[in-house]
Amino acid sequence: MTRSIHPIHDFHYKSGELYCEGVKVSSIVKKTGTPVYIYSHNTLVEHFRKIKAAFDEVDPVICFAMKANSNLAVLKALVREGAGFDIVSGGELRKALLVGAEAKKIVYASVGKTEAEIADAIRAGILLFNVESKPELMNIERIAGRMKKTVQVALRINPDVEAPTHDKINTGSLKKKFGIDLSTARGIFLDHKRFKNISINGVHVHIGSQITEGAPFMKAIRTALAFIDDLLRDGVQITYFDIGGGLGIIYSDEKPQTALEFSNKVLPLLKGRALRLIMEPGRFIVGNAGIFVTRKLYTKDNGVKKFMIVDGGMNDLVRPSMYGAHHEIIPLERSEARKIVCDVVGPICESADVFAHDRKLPDVADGKCLALLSAGAYGFSMSSNYNVRPRAAEVMVKGGSWAVVQARETFKDLVQGASIPAFLK
Ligand code: LLP
Repeated sequence: MTRSIHPIHDFHYKSGELYCEGVKVSSIVKKTGTPVYIYSHNTLVEHFRKIKAAFDEVDPVICFAMKANSNLAVLKALVREGAGFDIVSGGELRKALLVGAEAKKIVYASVGKTEAEIADAIRAGILLFNVESKPELMNIERIAGRMKKTVQVALRINPDVEAPTHDKINTGSLKKKFGIDLSTARGIFLDHKRFKNISINGVHVHIGSQITEGAPFMKAIRTALAFIDDLLRDGVQITYFDIGGGLGIIYSDEKPQTALEFSNKVLPLLKGRALRLIMEPGRFIVGNAGIFVTRKLYTKDNGVKKFMIVDGGMNDLVRPSMYGAHHEIIPLERSEARKIVCDVVGPICESADVFAHDRKLPDVADGKCLALLSAGAYGFSMSSNYNVRPRAAEVMVKGGSWAVVQARETFKDLVQGASIPAFLK
């Protein structure tokens, strides 16, 4: 019997065992060990296609926000679908080029771009720098001049919109470091002729992440379009309109707007305007396409609370500790075990190393594995070596096949580049 846990992804139980597409998850884990991230190729590309189809009539440049997941196989799968990338560092630029992304589909945000990063991106011939301040703009002008190039730039405006999401992933208000306030941005556009090596012809707006409602997006987009209209009246032509990312997904009982509902609201506003649309979805594409599998070590009961201790920790998946994020937790084998209410915790020496608080879960036997769902976005990409823990392996499943797409780190990897100086020997 096949039963989908969610209609939104390709992880499902078949005869009581969790499958990713056509592969039994436990058979993967037997080979890779734990903890491990597992991605469904089908779920990944289906989500890309959903956005693409919803906005097809304006043929947008869809730049996957690589910060959500920069695994090379994930990136390659998206490039094969026609994706570009939203990057935020020189490292992300190199990964984009490594998987064969078209430079003309790369946009580069970040409030702090170094001289070397700017020069590399100019050399690569990216589509747009999404500029976040005046000093950054001056730097790009100077570096482009030195390189005898003309580069295209969009200004990331800060629309001063408070999005209903976690404060740490809210970016569209003037209390945050992101973007340029409207009056400064307008001044720069009106003064655009003084720049010799940059052509300022785009507006970018990104107000935050995991935003499930349409209203804050529409408020930001309307603000940006009014801003563009004002510029047009003053004779400033805008070619690109980058509406960022931020679409929320289902972690438990969220009811986010669908890609189609979103496009139905956005597209009418673009009618009759000669604007090339750019989008930067990250979580929407990859969030539900990944799970994080961890092994239960044992349960500890201190008389007040029960703790289910697992071998994955906040170094592997920091979202619950950092944002209080919820990830569903299910066993790899559907379990008849009695349910207990417990905190699911990792081995890290921090009280914040908790995947779930007071969660009702089957008390599976020690050594059995659990899957944390919707872990494809900001999971592995935010992982660290805290507590000298090697980062987890990553696997991609496609139909009945699977492959390790990132090997588990070894101790050698962890001490690579470290040395003990002569004065300590
Ligand atoms: N564009 C820009 C300029 C961004 O800063 C971001 C995300 C995105 C696009 C993609 O946003 P998305 O579509 O994935 O929501 N680590 C946090 C999320 C941080 C988001 C950072 N910027 C988390 O785990 O919830």
